[in-house]
Amino acid sequence: MKFIVFEGLDGSGKSSLMAALEKELQKRQIQFHHTREPGGTRLSEEIRNMILRKEGPAPTSRTELLLYEASRAQHVDEVIAPKLRAGQWVLCDRFTASSVAFQGGGREIKESDVHALNDFATGGLKADLTVLLDLSVEESRRRRQGRGEANGESEDRIESEADSFHEKVRQSFLKQARADEKNWLVLDAKNTPDVLFQQLLQVLSERKILV
Ligand SMILES: Nc1ncnc2c1ncn2[C@@H]1O[C@H](COP(=O)(O)OP(=O)(O)OP(=O)(O)O)[C@@H](O)[C@H]1O
Ligand SMILES: [Mg+2]
Repeated sequence: MKFIVFEGLDGSGKSSLMAALEKELQKRQIQFHHTREPGGTRLSEEIRNMILRKEGPAPTSRTELLLYEASRAQHVDEVIAPKLRAGQWVLCDRFTASSVAFQGGGREIKESDVHALNDFATGGLKADLTVLLDLSVEESRRRRQGRGEANGESEDRIESEADSFHEKVRQSFLKQARADEKNWLVLDAKNTPDVLFQQLLQVLSERKILV
């Protein structure tokens, strides 16, 4: 069993790359569970709504971080850890690195505080690989708008932040990847979906994650 996390700005192609990997796992008859943060359990999805909705009261930065961590603790206990124990792969759309990037980088909460809360919420569980789809803020906005127009969805509370916020988030992701190269893979999200998938497969094989 392996725990693979996908990170990157909104619209960077996380869902698309996850879907491609899932097809490959199916082909190889490897059991997996697809999940996301914030969310992944009924309670965590309720917390997700409290975090991302634009109507209703908005949390302050510290409350926002704690809501993410509460949803994460439930997610780890109820879904991620049990699935891994049962031998399944878990593919997760965002995890601890997003809290470091959005609440640490974007909201400028002290990084050591975010790390401490991440450790508490996960009980120390770490991904076998964190895949960062690195994309410029400009391109991220373009893709989000394209997708929003296509399915009539409007931006959530975090997506609505200024470009300067998303730039800090991007730089934090890159910094985290540089600080922990052996557990991260940085992909240039401007590549085609097919190239990105081939790059991911190659690294999964080189690192003996998928053999
Ligand atoms: N490699 C790519 N090149 C060009 N466009 C892409 C690529 N991957 C995905 N897209 C397009 O960009 C948009 C966002 O892709 P996707 O939904 O996979 O991103 P995401 O990171 O999951 O976004 P979100 O965080 O909002 O869920 C979609 O319209 C998708 O078709
Ligand atoms: Mg997605």
